Amino acid sequence: MHRLLLRKSVEDCENDILERGGLKRSLGKWHLTALGVGATIGAGIFATTGTAIVGDPARPGAGPAIVLSFLLTALTCGFAALCYAEFAAMVPISGSAYTYAYASLGELVAWIIGWDLIVEYAVGNIGVAIGWSGYFRELLTHFGVAMPAWLATDFRSAHMAAAAVANGASDPSSQYLASALATAPRLFGLPVIANLPAFLIVALITVILVIGIKESANSNTAMVVLKIAIILFFCAVGVTLIKPIHWNDPATGGFAPNGFAGISAGAAIIFFSYIGFDATSTAAEEARDPARDMPFGIIMSLVVCTVLYIVLALVMTGMAPWQRLGTPEPMITALALADGSPRLLTISRFIVSLGAVVAMSSVLLVFQLGQPRIFMSMSRDGLLPPFLARVHPRFKTPWVGTIITGLFVATFAAFANIAEVVDLTNIGTLFAFVLVSAGVIVLRRQEPDRPRPFRAPLVPITPIISILACIYLMIQLPRITWIRFGLWLLLGLAIYFTYGVRNSRLARQAEAKAEETGAAV
Ligand code: ALA
Repeated sequence: MHRLLLRKSVEDCENDILERGGLKRSLGKWHLTALGVGATIGAGIFATTGTAIVGDPARPGAGPAIVLSFLLTALTCGFAALCYAEFAAMVPISGSAYTYAYASLGELVAWIIGWDLIVEYAVGNIGVAIGWSGYFRELLTHFGVAMPAWLATDFRSAHMAAAAVANGASDPSSQYLASALATAPRLFGLPVIANLPAFLIVALITVILVIGIKESANSNTAMVVLKIAIILFFCAVGVTLIKPIHWNDPATGGFAPNGFAGISAGAAIIFFSYIGFDATSTAAEEARDPARDMPFGIIMSLVVCTVLYIVLALVMTGMAPWQRLGTPEPMITALALADGSPRLLTISRFIVSLGAVVAMSSVLLVFQLGQPRIFMSMSRDGLLPPFLARVHPRFKTPWVGTIITGLFVATFAAFANIAEVVDLTNIGTLFAFVLVSAGVIVLRRQEPDRPRPFRAPLVPITPIISILACIYLMIQLPRITWIRFGLWLLLGLAIYFTYGVRNSRLARQAEAKAEETGAAV
């Protein structure tokens, strides 16, 4: 029990970096903000907003009140961001919430968080790659290229679309996806359906990341600028197409057709669109001045995204009846349904689909960047095998972990279903937020005098609100998601008790110390 609660002191964390020589410190505060925004604006806003507005068989939709869902989630993330910022400034080492937990809540909780972060980063990126693929396919159509459906989706999506078509759905997206089942080649009688673009984009990003962080961060900054411009473009075009009746049409249930239940269910889905502002913290070891720049990067990226989302949601729900926005490309759908010049609408759809592809590429980049760095921290601590901490001698990147992450994400992206992946990512990330917020309270008690370059205001009230709000959003997610997440955690515990507990560097050091002093551990 004592071993499970061993904590790594913040000095130990810092000494680790000095010993190893560490990663290149090349990122400034706007680089970090761009990293946060780059990780944040992506498949969440482009692909999942439709389900949040309309709902699905498992939950009610928010309707035009999706704006309030965005606000609710932003507030939740805001409280968590303050906690992340306190930790990121105090423990400026790559590894994110995992490292913070190791310094505050002990090894077992740290392991749980590290394991849980795989759900946020790697599983999250599976969802983003699938979302990317959908918009990429849409973009290709503007060049007259039509991908065969069996090479651009997953079996479950094809199956669901086929069921929808059998029930009378006639929209092009369902028809297209359903065609995968009929046109797929067969292997042992089973249709071969795989999302090839999703696989390939992850492979490409992996190569970029093995080559180096500096190049990657710079290209990320360029992508972020471009995607903000494209969202603003959508809003500028959309604002001219708004019909205020869409916001509050009594015929379709008014502003909030499913009341607070719909707003909350929507908030739990679009939480995905906020994941990523915390990704900034995984680059703490590469920040030039972490104490000053980490809190800035985390909070600024959250503020930028929140403002953009709320304006975008307001414009989008003003452009078309909310019940018709429930597609994987709600912005494209809003443009398709809006009443305006056909030429302007077609050009806008092209630009928005291009923007979505760019936006999601930069999300992929940041998450593929973050995951190997978490592996690296865990591996250095002996909780994962040592090869995951190997830094490339020339590129100075954690190349082995980067390639393993790439293979894992690319393979699942080729076969998984986006909705299921998004729900799982959300529950895992909310759980990590809960643990980080709890960590702030614990560490303030345990080490009140430790220098805190950034202090979250009103502790313990801020972290307590963060914990309660995150749990509230978790409760909105379907039962099957809880079961999957529970199984994932159990698998993690099994690995910890068979590998980590025996190889933990901290436990070995404690044992060695105890042997010296003759005390028992
Ligand atoms: N927030 C990220 C996205 O929406 C995960 O793509």
